[in-house]
Amino acid sequence: MKKAIMTIGCTAMMLAACQSELKLREDNIDEIIAAMTLEEKAGLCVGVGYNWMDGTDAGWNIQAKVPGAAGTTMAIERLGIPAIQLCDGPAGLRIQPTREGDEATYYCTHFPIGTLLSSTWDQELVENVGKAMGEEVLEYGADVLLAPALNIHRNPLCGRNFEYYSEDPVVAGKIAAAYVKGIQSNGVGTSIKHFAFNNQETNRLRDNAIVSERAAREIYLKGFEIAVKEANPMTVMTSYNMINDVYTSESYDLNTTVLRDEWGYTGVVMTDWTGGYDAAKNIHAGNEMIQPGNKVKYDQIIAAVNEGRLPMEELDQAVRRILEMVVKCPGFKNYKYSNKPDLEGHAAVTRQSATEGMVLLENKGALPLKDAKKVALIGVTSYNWIAGGTGSGDVNRAYTVNLTEGLKNAGFETDATIAAQYEAWIKKENARLDSIKSTLGQNAWMFNETAGEMDPAALDLTAAAQANDVAIITIGRNSGEGSDREVENFELSAYEQAMIKNVTAAFHAVGKKAVVILNIGGVIESASWKNIPDAVLCAWQGGQEGGNSVADVISGKANPSGKLPMTWPVKFTDHKSSANFPINKGIIQSESIPAPATEVKDVDYTIYEEGIYVGYRWFDTQNLAVSYPFGYGLSYTTFTYAAEDVKAEGETYTVNVTVTNNGEVAGKEVVELYVTAPQGSLDKPAQELKAFAKTPVIEPGKSAKVTLTVKADDLASYNEETSSWEVEAGTYTFKVGASSRDIRATSTAEVAAKATKAHKVFQRAAK
Ligand code: BGC
Repeated sequence: MKKAIMTIGCTAMMLAACQSELKLREDNIDEIIAAMTLEEKAGLCVGVGYNWMDGTDAGWNIQAKVPGAAGTTMAIERLGIPAIQLCDGPAGLRIQPTREGDEATYYCTHFPIGTLLSSTWDQELVENVGKAMGEEVLEYGADVLLAPALNIHRNPLCGRNFEYYSEDPVVAGKIAAAYVKGIQSNGVGTSIKHFAFNNQETNRLRDNAIVSERAAREIYLKGFEIAVKEANPMTVMTSYNMINDVYTSESYDLNTTVLRDEWGYTGVVMTDWTGGYDAAKNIHAGNEMIQPGNKVKYDQIIAAVNEGRLPMEELDQAVRRILEMVVKCPGFKNYKYSNKPDLEGHAAVTRQSATEGMVLLENKGALPLKDAKKVALIGVTSYNWIAGGTGSGDVNRAYTVNLTEGLKNAGFETDATIAAQYEAWIKKENARLDSIKSTLGQNAWMFNETAGEMDPAALDLTAAAQANDVAIITIGRNSGEGSDREVENFELSAYEQAMIKNVTAAFHAVGKKAVVILNIGGVIESASWKNIPDAVLCAWQGGQEGGNSVADVISGKANPSGKLPMTWPVKFTDHKSSANFPINKGIIQSESIPAPATEVKDVDYTIYEEGIYVGYRWFDTQNLAVSYPFGYGLSYTTFTYAAEDVKAEGETYTVNVTVTNNGEVAGKEVVELYVTAPQGSLDKPAQELKAFAKTPVIEPGKSAKVTLTVKADDLASYNEETSSWEVEAGTYTFKVGASSRDIRATSTAEVAAKATKAHKVFQRAAK
């Protein structure tokens, strides 16, 4: 392996110090800071450039210890400070799978996407997935995984929703906390991202998110707050965009007042890659690491200190936090990594966890498949299975199990004539896509179009229905960073609509069933077609074992227990945020500073006019029809709930629920607790999720008890007038539900008034 070509080297003047024995230890950080030169301090605050773009950032690129790392910190050899390896995330470790002159391979496990993990609503499961993923981080020699990503699903069209968890901050925060705990149990770090308000990809480098302080705190920051307080992630990554006219990485309000002063965070904050425009402002704001860094940023810091714009104490504080991170990393502790993580064990982890986040949307007795052997497998995606989204959230995996392979592994036979037709079609489509990609130049890495659907008229459906026992139709979608989904990606195409309609009709004509499987990363239109087939399973993008995981569910080996962490609207325009969201704008990555003279709505600035009315908070308050409500999902069995009334003990409110399986197969159930506040002076949504739990496996006829706990502080809303979190006194209704629209029991508790002072933040200067 090539050695770093740029570390802070020894000049003649520093020779004496170079020879000194002073080396970084956990207990001598202040001594090290006192011995560092200004150049070394600036160097430590900026990274060392893109290692995969050798030579493009003259003198500042290194061949990282872990090839394919997204970035590293700068090594300062004379003081015993190693380069810390930062790698993407979040569906697994993203490193280069092969290395020149090396026969070994370095593939990583592609685990399910974030949205599938949150659909499990199972913190224990997510923590276990995190443990497995973190073992790969450790054993491949990396230090920090640039994950999890937990921005709120503000609108279904956001291109990175697949990496994110939910439209609800409690779900996002709790799942992120579990993920962080799992990863960090290996002694490696995480980076919760993108802090914050990164809810669109269009013009993500400079979009100005205009958000009320209340919505900022209750919706967009709440999940980060939960993750910070419950799991203490080693690092936080700021987003590219602005919040109320200030880049998030330059926002003192965000990175110091809220994150550190209010939430008590003591770790490192780093920029997103190439984000951050003025390094001195970043450091002052409390964003101490600039990644992947370059000479410009390094010079900015030195100049700012020399000109008195950046006090040395602030730079020292930043250096201290970075060194406190360095000493915790395996790379500092000289951990002897094996380069042999337990890939086989982790394949089993991803296969099983994916089954638990699949959401059964419809089932008219079609699933699990009984007495079916021969399957007519229809739809391009069945043969071109999508493991996860594109961009930095993709993983260099050794393989992807297609649905066709998964079904074969489970003992089904798939129709060879149909398979041959699709394979020929996909070959042509891939050639078409490659030629488009080749014209995109620099933006090619963001290209995420997948093979288009084949005209189902090309298939002999009458013959297929005769020859097979059942039809499985797959609908696929992909997306990734750098652009948002287009409206047509949300809607079903005419071919897809025809495929569902005609295949189902042909199979029904001979008394057979048709099942639709969704291999998607984000919400799609479902209201117009969901009642046509006999079952609909949302399989999401379940990682490299996807085909096996789906086969486990449809064969009945596994009982799906996922529920939707977001609302599925009838039309995407039903979301209030759709009035202020970039629609069909394509890839825009402008970095123009200052802002262009004429700013374009939803591209240069986005007004979060809906305030706190995101997702079900909007739909349920307005009582709007939805296709599937938040928290919805079926099982192969049915459950009844027996809920005790809410019990108040001091400031803690507890609801015990006994869940009974009254069907014929074992299964798990997600139980949700919503709270409706009394009418007070603050505007409140009709109900808000405050807690959730997943039962263990319940055998038929048996029961399990779950306890849902809410603290008085969880009932607070943010009052911008008084700059405080306020719980208004009155009667609160605690509602136990199987979804936001399926409330099974309610009870009430009297809650006393409470107020907790915070700081006024994110104020816009008068123009
Ligand atoms: C993404 C981050 C990622 C980083 C490093 C950026 O483009 O927004 O999520 O961690 O690149 O690859």
